[in-house]
Amino acid sequence: MSQSVRRVAVVTGAARGIGAAIARKLAADGLAVAVVDLDEKAGAETVDAIVSAGGSAIAIGADVADKDQVRAAVERTVAELGAPTVLVNNAGVLRDNLLFKMSEDDWDTVMAVHLRGAFLFSKAVQEHMVAAKFGRIVSLSSTSALGNRGQANYAAAKAGLQGFTKTLAIELGKFGITANAVAPGFIVTDMTRATAARVGVDFDDFEKAAVSQIPVARAGRPEDVANTVSFLVGEGAGFVSGQVVYVAGGPRD
Ligand SMILES: NC(=O)c1ccc[n+]([C@@H]2O[C@H](COP(=O)([O-])OP(=O)(O)OC[C@H]3O[C@@H](n4cnc5c(N)ncnc54)[C@H](O)[C@@H]3O)[C@@H](O)[C@H]2O)c1
Repeated sequence: MSQSVRRVAVVTGAARGIGAAIARKLAADGLAVAVVDLDEKAGAETVDAIVSAGGSAIAIGADVADKDQVRAAVERTVAELGAPTVLVNNAGVLRDNLLFKMSEDDWDTVMAVHLRGAFLFSKAVQEHMVAAKFGRIVSLSSTSALGNRGQANYAAAKAGLQGFTKTLAIELGKFGITANAVAPGFIVTDMTRATAARVGVDFDDFEKAAVSQIPVARAGRPEDVANTVSFLVGEGAGFVSGQVVYVAGGPRD
């Protein structure tokens, strides 16, 4: 396939936050982007921003944990943009609580969105990547994968995504497909704002406390993650696979 062929990317959870920044960045890189989020209207702002900057994107409403909706989202992408060869599994939710207070629903919801969602989308998109002999799968992990109070469900899901990623890298490498995980630290989005609200701390104080632990001495921005994803899905990153890249302003184990 020549370099001039426009690649098609699917970015899940791209209505806002990190996913929206990834969608904007990949569109600026020249990819056509399917902006997938829970409902189609939610993704419209991201799509408008991309189109007014001269890019190409469509909004697709889908719950990443629902097999039929995932299949329909991929079919629409193929029909309206072309076969996707880039997938960013970004959709995510928090249901934080200490273990003794965590409900089964808190556990199941987090597993469904992060793990089942990444599984369903990767499975649905890989056939197009195999046919194209090119593919890039990036899944959003987190520094929480290393353990974080109040996040037994989220930490397990984000660590699970790292094992999932390494296995896809092994299975799919011979088809020209790479799989990597990006693990952000503290990034200012609605998700971190919701966490501050849940623990009853003013967001500025919450951010200050986080920054005091970050070697580069600032909070992360969605664009920090988007720039890293842009590299990993690029033509030049074909020998980087099965890696977990921490985007956290400092080292992680
Ligand atoms: N913000 C951080 O500090 C941080 C740190 C590490 C990892 N992450 C991860 O990065 C990703 C993006 O986080 P964010 O901070 O932008 O979150 P966010 O809450 O701002 O955005 C998440 C998006 O995912 C969508 N979504 C949720 N459930 C969905 C579902 N079932 N189907 C489709 N879409 C769904 C939401 O509607 C929303 O648009 C998540 O996977 C998150 O776990 C975030």
